[in-house]
Amino acid sequence: MKRIFPASFYNPVTLVGAAIAAVSLGLIAFLMVIESFAENPKPYMGIVAFVLLPGVMIVGLAILIFGILRERRRVHAGKPETHLPIIDLNNPKHRTAFVFFSFGTILLLILSAFGSFKAYEHTDSDQFCGETCHKVMEPEYTAYEYSPHARVGCVKCHIGPGAGWFVRSKLSGAYQVYATLFNKYPTPIPTPIENLRPAQETCEQCHWPKQFFSQKELMNTYFTSDENNTRWSLNLLVKVGGGNIEAGPTSGIHWHMNIANEVTYAAVDTQRQVIPWVRIKTAEGKIITYKSTESTLSDAEIQKIQKRRMDCIDCHNRPTHIYHPPARSIDHVMSLGWIDPELPNIKSVAVKALEHPYTTKPAALDSIKQEIGEFYRSNHPDVAAKKSAQIDRAIAEVQKIYSRNYFPEMHVSWKKFNDNIGHMYYPGCFRCHDGKHVSEEGKVLSRDCNVCHTILAQQTEKDDLRISLQGVEYKHPVDIGDAWKEMNCSDCHNSQ
Ligand code: HEC
Ligand code: HEC
Ligand code: HEC
Ligand code: HEC
Ligand code: HEC
Ligand code: HEC
Repeated sequence: MKRIFPASFYNPVTLVGAAIAAVSLGLIAFLMVIESFAENPKPYMGIVAFVLLPGVMIVGLAILIFGILRERRRVHAGKPETHLPIIDLNNPKHRTAFVFFSFGTILLLILSAFGSFKAYEHTDSDQFCGETCHKVMEPEYTAYEYSPHARVGCVKCHIGPGAGWFVRSKLSGAYQVYATLFNKYPTPIPTPIENLRPAQETCEQCHWPKQFFSQKELMNTYFTSDENNTRWSLNLLVKVGGGNIEAGPTSGIHWHMNIANEVTYAAVDTQRQVIPWVRIKTAEGKIITYKSTESTLSDAEIQKIQKRRMDCIDCHNRPTHIYHPPARSIDHVMSLGWIDPELPNIKSVAVKALEHPYTTKPAALDSIKQEIGEFYRSNHPDVAAKKSAQIDRAIAEVQKIYSRNYFPEMHVSWKKFNDNIGHMYYPGCFRCHDGKHVSEEGKVLSRDCNVCHTILAQQTEKDDLRISLQGVEYKHPVDIGDAWKEMNCSDCHNSQ
């Protein structure tokens, strides 16, 4: 038989190496073929095709080279060349071994093809993203499961289809696998994500910005931190709006974004919370620049800051990984009656129990039970005796809220992740609409309470219902004078 390769190639070690390399190359090719025929390309499959299999292939090649070098050294040292075994198919023993070996190899190949196909499917699943790296992704995965996007795959927002982002995410995906294996990840995982795919290619594939219309009504119930948990209700009509001239007037909150108008801003911090400079370019090409009167930066300094054009993520930065502020979660379950609002002081006791800096989740759940139970036993023994079922239910609800929103091992809680929708617990819209951003002509970015929403109705337990379709004047639930007109709501509501 004529030999194509140098003699030193033909030794068992090199042949085994060559076989490993060839099989992995075959599997990579196989995965690429499935990928090109797949209806929905599966981005994370790349970890198998481009990270794991090439790794195996490199090991195969290394064995191959090692075999060649070893063989050369042997020949050099005067030892006889290794001879490969001669297979004689007329010899019944050889024949049986050959048949076994061939079938074995074919079976192995089929199984590896099946295995890599399964791996291919698995890397795309939300379980892979959320559960494989359990501890690291637990906060994001838990919040996601309770969010409006619980049925939208992680990859739909984080990677999406298309070659460029595919390769980019592959590289960062490979790094993430490494970081998780070697415990090199930061806690919490930092946000914003610098190389998040632009919203036009993710969010806007499902939500067509021109098509949002009308207004959205919110009916919120709040309880203040006094002994009676005084109830306060608010009915807001949020002017979401939209941008399709054919289907209706362009108006509302979504109007000033992306579609016809370009809003560009400069932020001084990585979290994009402090915004000294904003510029709007209208559809007609008119440019207005607003500057914060509170900023001490000179024009030259602002020039140097990298600008960002506003898109969905600048408001909806927590569309799915939402860590709720404690006051909001407790108000919510109290308004549903899951926590009995008749329990004295329950609002403040529950919020306080959630906010302690615990170090582990089990310790937190245990302390919450102790603390709430103890509060009633020592301050309201009669309530503790009469309403023990309600107290137990309250404890269970607070523990559930804790489990969904606090992850002490990863240092994750609502305070670490500002949500830019609204303005009560985080600066949000008031990053620009704080009444302190003024244009050269003296136009102020409005913080009028009825610009973004109409306050349709408002009521405390003691007052009469105040209601008007034109909007009623806001009344802060507890008397703080005019502070709510001058300060940002989050200055007080993020410090509890
Ligand atoms: C609806 C779109 C969407 C889906 C679905 C989604 N994410 Fe996110 N994710 C985001 C956005 C937006 C951010 C914040 C980006 C920013 O602020 O720059 C983010 C941030 C993150 C972060 C960074 C840390 C943080 O909390 O900000 C991690 C980790 C993450 N997502 C993991 C996941 C995992 C795992 C899944 C699936 C279980 C998933 N995401 C599903 C949109 C999404
Ligand atoms: C694969 C499709 C898909 C993608 C991609 C997607 N969404 Fe959604 N989004 C949905 C669905 C489905 C709902 C739930 C609609 C419903 O049931 O009302 C939703 C709901 C929402 C809501 C309303 C939430 C609420 O409280 O009612 C917002 C806001 C939103 N998405 C923003 C975003 C943003 C921002 C992005 C990009 C980071 C995004 N979505 C990406 C499909 C998607
Ligand atoms: C000077 C500090 C301060 C400012 C500014 C402020 N608040 Fe409050 N707010 C309070 C205090 C104190 C309470 C009572 C807290 C309690 O009883 O739990 C409260 C209670 C509330 C409550 C009901 C209780 C709750 O937390 O659910 C709402 C709703 C509320 N404020 C909204 C706002 C809004 C909206 C703004 C901005 C327009 C604002 N506040 C600005 C101090 C402030
Ligand atoms: C100026 C900030 C801002 C920008 C930019 C923005 N939104 Fe919104 N969006 C809002 C607010 C505020 C609401 C209403 C409050 C809420 O979600 O409860 C809203 C509501 C929505 C809703 C729910 C509509 C409904 O009627 O329930 C969807 C879906 C949505 N936005 C998607 C998007 C998408 C997609 C983009 C990017 C093209 C985008 N938004 C850009 C502020 C913004
Ligand atoms: C980066 C700065 C910035 C942020 C953050 C921002 N806006 Fe704006 N907003 C602007 C600018 C600039 C205009 C245009 C003002 C003008 O007409 O010159 C505007 C205009 C508006 C208008 C139209 C006002 C009118 O007079 O008709 C609404 C409504 C609005 N914004 C709502 C919101 C809401 C709601 C949020 C938070 C979810 C928000 N904006 C966050 C910069 C911002
Ligand atoms: C730039 C637009 C904008 C302005 C100006 C504005 N709001 Fe809001 N407000 C919002 C948005 C957006 C939300 C969030 C709606 C949601 O939760 O979906 C909100 C929510 C609220 C809530 C409910 C908070 C919560 O999370 O429970 C209150 C109360 C409120 N606004 C009061 C006010 C008052 C009082 C003023 C005047 C000082 C004001 N707003 C000015 C955009 C605005």
